[in-house]
Amino acid sequence: MKMKAIDKAWGLLEREAARIAKISLTKLFSDDEDRFDRLSFNYCGLLVDHSKEHIDQPCLKALVGLAQAADLEKHRDQMFAGFPINFTENLAALHMALREGISPETSVNGQNILEITGSELNRFLAFAEDVRRGRATAVNGRRFTDVINIGIGGADLGPRMTTSALSHFHDGPHLHYVSNIDTAHFYDVSSSLDPQTTLVIIASKTFMTLETSSNAQTARNWLVSAIGENASAHLAAVSANLTATQEFGIDPARTFKFWDWVGGRYSLWSAIGLPLAIAIGAKNFRALLSGAAAMDQHFTTAELGKNLPVLMALIGIWRRNLENMQTLAIIPYDQRLVRFPAYLQQLEMESNGKSVSTTGHAVDHATSPIIWGEPGTNAQHSFFQLLHQGSDTVPVDFLIAATQPNEAGDHHLKLAANCFAQSQALAFGLNEKVVREQMAADGTETEFIDQIAPHRAFAGNRPSTTILYPRLDPETLGKLIVLYEHKVFCQGIIWQINSFDQWGVELGKHIADRLLPTLSQKDMPQEEDTSTKGLVAAFQLLRQPLV
Ligand code: F6P
Repeated sequence: MKMKAIDKAWGLLEREAARIAKISLTKLFSDDEDRFDRLSFNYCGLLVDHSKEHIDQPCLKALVGLAQAADLEKHRDQMFAGFPINFTENLAALHMALREGISPETSVNGQNILEITGSELNRFLAFAEDVRRGRATAVNGRRFTDVINIGIGGADLGPRMTTSALSHFHDGPHLHYVSNIDTAHFYDVSSSLDPQTTLVIIASKTFMTLETSSNAQTARNWLVSAIGENASAHLAAVSANLTATQEFGIDPARTFKFWDWVGGRYSLWSAIGLPLAIAIGAKNFRALLSGAAAMDQHFTTAELGKNLPVLMALIGIWRRNLENMQTLAIIPYDQRLVRFPAYLQQLEMESNGKSVSTTGHAVDHATSPIIWGEPGTNAQHSFFQLLHQGSDTVPVDFLIAATQPNEAGDHHLKLAANCFAQSQALAFGLNEKVVREQMAADGTETEFIDQIAPHRAFAGNRPSTTILYPRLDPETLGKLIVLYEHKVFCQGIIWQINSFDQWGVELGKHIADRLLPTLSQKDMPQEEDTSTKGLVAAFQLLRQPLV
């Protein structure tokens, strides 16, 4: 019965898509003076303008119908109640608890969730304040001037993205991030630092990730060579694997835990946020959490058609499944959100980059788009050419603040003018007739106009959503991140995939483990394919006499 409702909902959407495909965005706007009011949504302190998406009211109604047919609200409530919705790992997905975004009664395995998350939050924020105020000092009694966070994926991208986003609030020690196993990363970060006054945080849910354990070892050697065996006083850890942190020799008083029901890419709100808390302080960190919880509250209470994460998800479904758009460009007109596209790459692509449905069968529809992007205006001067005139249509999410704490002259107005100009140019383009008229008015010869005008015309009709917020502060950042978190969840439900596992990262790790011993020897791996063997042989040759 339910399947029939979903099929019906998809069928209606396909009919709506075929209908609206014949109507340009220019026409949709000229036919409806109130389009902006109808299709922009102002909740929770964010204005999300979907009016430049290629939809109208009936399309939106059909999209909401799809969410209803997929029982989205039931699934949402199950996630918030702690059901093991990550069924391939038999785990709940309760990262919302870390920001008190769930009901206070929720428990997992008989434990009240808010009690355990609250006490760990207090512990790691107290440590952050100790470091900031010079109560937790280096072995030589001096303040820590620098902090290196060693972690990868969710143990890197969240704190790193938010540290940059909130640099205006940064008044603690200098923060540095090392993620890549490439020695260049640790070397380039550490070479300008003094180990005598540097704190190293090792952040890893499993504490077994190759990159992090290798960098952790190297960092410890770096500390030991400068300060001797007391080096452990310069180490802290964040993990769900406390046996491994202890084996590595981290003082339990400096070890902060999170839980298996927090996925790596959803872990920023846990002690994984420790480096950020050291940078901006406990009060600002709590403001980030309260912004995040406000979006949880909106998501769990607003009706589907007025629910920002649901609408973002449905617009994404429209772009991906009805308009067959394969990528999504994230363009913050906010330099401090420089790592936001990378953060969303993990959030969206690791969550919804799946092609097997919850029933174990191949999905019969497209899932996560490829996420990419760069801050504007820089992006305008690199890849926007393709966005305006390329053969693929790329939908864009623009993000911009109304105010900027370091405003100088009219920079911010220029930034905003460019942001709004780009979405307008994408939507409405510039037709060849107008180009010809403009060139003729400039006195250009007809023959030259005939040659050049087609190159200077813009087809337009390219969709975008603009998210406008008052300013990039901790609370707003919390809301923005959770807007995307819940968007990803809703899409996973509609696509009928498990958004909380990541089996696709395993195979390459196993092969790397198998190849590693052969790279340091002259032995040729026997059972590998001929390309891999050829590459290994060439690599060994180029490394002689090292090998
Ligand atoms: O390989 C992918 C992944 O498991 C991510 O999901 C995770 O954020 C990252 O590796 C790091 O894992 P860990 O926190 O266990 O070191």
